[in-house]
Amino acid sequence: MERVGILVVSYGSREAAIVDAFLRSREYKVDLYIADRQRNPFNVKRAKEHVVIPDLNVESIYKFAEKHRDEIDFGIVGPEKPIIEGVRDLIEGNLGIPMICPTKVYALERSKVAQRLLFQEVVPEVNPRFKIFDPKDYKDLSDVKRDLFKWLDELDNKVAVKPDAPAAGKGVGVWGDHFNTRDEIWEHFLANFKVGPVIVEEKIEGEESSFQAFCDGKHIVPLPETRDYKRAFDGDRGPNTGGMGTYKDRGNILPFMRPEDWEKEKRIVERIFERLKGGGSNPNLRGVPFYEAFIHTGKGPMILENNSRPGDPEIIPILPLLKDDFVDICFRIIEGTLTHVDVEEKAAVVVYKVPPKYGGYIDAFPHLVNRSEIGTPVILDEAEGLSAKYGDNIRVYPGSMEIREDGKFYALSSRAVCTLGIADDIQSAREIAMEGIRAIRGGALWNRMDIASREHIERSIRHMEMLRKRI
Ligand code: GLY
Repeated sequence: MERVGILVVSYGSREAAIVDAFLRSREYKVDLYIADRQRNPFNVKRAKEHVVIPDLNVESIYKFAEKHRDEIDFGIVGPEKPIIEGVRDLIEGNLGIPMICPTKVYALERSKVAQRLLFQEVVPEVNPRFKIFDPKDYKDLSDVKRDLFKWLDELDNKVAVKPDAPAAGKGVGVWGDHFNTRDEIWEHFLANFKVGPVIVEEKIEGEESSFQAFCDGKHIVPLPETRDYKRAFDGDRGPNTGGMGTYKDRGNILPFMRPEDWEKEKRIVERIFERLKGGGSNPNLRGVPFYEAFIHTGKGPMILENNSRPGDPEIIPILPLLKDDFVDICFRIIEGTLTHVDVEEKAAVVVYKVPPKYGGYIDAFPHLVNRSEIGTPVILDEAEGLSAKYGDNIRVYPGSMEIREDGKFYALSSRAVCTLGIADDIQSAREIAMEGIRAIRGGALWNRMDIASREHIERSIRHMEMLRKRI
């Protein structure tokens, strides 16, 4: 078997899933060089070399790559921060190691303002109405307030307030969800405006889906649609998080979508791609430069935002279902020959388990937290042992978790560990993922109970039927 060395820049469970996909290669003997945010037990065990870079700064990642430059054939990056800070430019430019992620200029995720302006130029019909409030344009806060309130009058207060800079979904505030009065909008707006430009856009009613595509600079290869669960608590309540879970159906679309919605999404992304490609090909777009959040309305999808990386958790249910060898897919992305991928017709569900403070859970539900368990080791053995029952249809991917000197695993502050269930239908996949979640012990970890539940999905379907009827 051919030996291949791969640099993985890792943040959490998404990258454990990437590591797993590489190591399941049937055609290559893979050596992994992992620059990680923490001593992730999954990655530490599997890496040829593992280094912890808590802030994932690009200089330290570069030094790690430089040290192993003779062994590394290519690199792949999951988290947005190093992509936005130009990790590819640095490593590819100086070391000649091909990197799978967009270059700095093409990391559209850097600026929500720039994204909105691009969408306005290329796909205006699916861009919500928006206004940009830039601190540079104002001397006096009373002027900002006047302009903002005028805009709120026009939109009847039904707005989403978004900081320009990425905040992992957490800086976004939505009318009816995060605020219910103008004073609350103003408070949220001001907190962000003090840091930089803010977009105030019309709130669109609908159901969200995540669209992701591999890109080799010449082609975009759409992947099956997934649903992200952004809010912390059941029933889509509580603060926004990085994502508490996700599901995909057997095919390419979600149960509340129509085939034509997906076709339309593909055409929208194709137009953005064509605009950025500017002709023949643009290898700077290599990776997953188009991970779009769409919102489905009665009239079809509208665009919420563009991320420049695979979604966490949204890529996790897809990787194990790729029929092609993932190492080969990466080589084809680098060569510019990735025209399509085959994905198994299976449903998959991912559920995250997180520590008590995450999403403000311990404050919202103090009576539900077993305080004597906080900070105790997290035991994954029983969950991992479920592979004896389910084979490859269950996976356990640690994220914000570290292995310490005592050999035990401890949850850190973010999403600690997820389980993935795979089956012929969503509910069977969910049962597997939830059985895995229940088998994880310690750390006072908690999870949403309604990820991919029948009730949640049926509510989305009914909501879409109602919105389509209204047209
Ligand atoms: N699941 C949301 C994200 O990856 O940004």
